[in-house]
Amino acid sequence: MLKTRLTQAFGIEHPVVLAPMDVVSGGRLATAVATAGGLGMIGGGYGDREWLERELGAVHGTRVGCGFITWSLARRPGLLDLALAHEPAAVMLSFGDPTPFADRIRAAGVPLLCQVHTLDQARQAIDARADVVVGQGGEAGGHGVGSRSTFTLVPDIADLIAARAPDTLLVAAGGVADGRGLAAALALGADGVLAGTRFWATEEAAVSPLAHRRAVAAGGDDTVRTRVYDIVRQYPWPSEFDGRLLRNPFVDRWHGREADLVAHMPEAVAEFHQAVAEQDFDVANMIVGEAVGQVREILPAGDVVRRMAREAAERLGRFAPETAALTG
Ligand SMILES: Cc1cc2nc3c(=O)[nH]c(=O)nc-3n(C[C@H](O)[C@H](O)[C@H](O)COP(=O)(O)O)c2cc1C
Repeated sequence: MLKTRLTQAFGIEHPVVLAPMDVVSGGRLATAVATAGGLGMIGGGYGDREWLERELGAVHGTRVGCGFITWSLARRPGLLDLALAHEPAAVMLSFGDPTPFADRIRAAGVPLLCQVHTLDQARQAIDARADVVVGQGGEAGGHGVGSRSTFTLVPDIADLIAARAPDTLLVAAGGVADGRGLAAALALGADGVLAGTRFWATEEAAVSPLAHRRAVAAGGDDTVRTRVYDIVRQYPWPSEFDGRLLRNPFVDRWHGREADLVAHMPEAVAEFHQAVAEQDFDVANMIVGEAVGQVREILPAGDVVRRMAREAAERLGRFAPETAALTG
């Protein structure tokens, strides 16, 4: 329905990419997205080898890609060999300099996607000869830099690519949950979209029904960018990054009081781990972006892919006659 440079380059039906969301994007979700005609991505996340091996092995009847948190991969570079041994449809690197890994990925004949949040990072991705730059705006769920919105970042990167590396593809991420978002991204100069939050809220995502119910009830105003959970999870995120997630009483207690949180670490960490075990989302984290406001039901992931593409095609087609009239 919607043929773009992305669908042509990857031999996929719809210009829709599943975000490699840590342990949420397992083999089941990636398979569902790929089978529906999108590009499925497994989340390499923080580098649990056993998990990655199991989830890569769980893919069936199709090919999917694999994403890594770059600064974490640098601590366990062997995980890239594991992923490449499965002949992935793509490797995506986010949150760090992709240059040290780019040659190995290219040598394996695997397309490289680099997720960026600023124009400087887009230049770095182009210099690393990324096949696809994923421009992520600050409305996105999960980590990022957060200073730019998708609506301005995507056309800025489109201009940069046109000037410096016109064969590089561009994918928009952050806030895309339906056909309106996909149509807008294509209009802004992207070749497709990468969606996280909308796929987090699908039947195949590794997310508890309790968390799903809470997301359906949440609105777009209910998320916040914070470092609170990186502190209690004791992940060494570089200082420029924070993450967007759903607000809750735990975030309200500590956001803006990070030094106090550090001073209360042993108790706060214990409280957090207990809450995760008990699925108490007043304390445990739920990582979703502003697009959670557009999540009204938990759907099969394949329906999300097909619906997004169909609605975008309808919407773009609806405007086409008027555009033709305007341009004469
Ligand atoms: C639950 C969750 C986990 C995420 N984990 C990762 C990750 O491990 N690696 C990564 O590159 N991006 C991760 N992201 C960010 C996505 O790649 C993407 O930029 C984002 O989901 C797009 O915005 P959206 O959530 O509005 O669709 C995550 C996002 C979510 C919602």
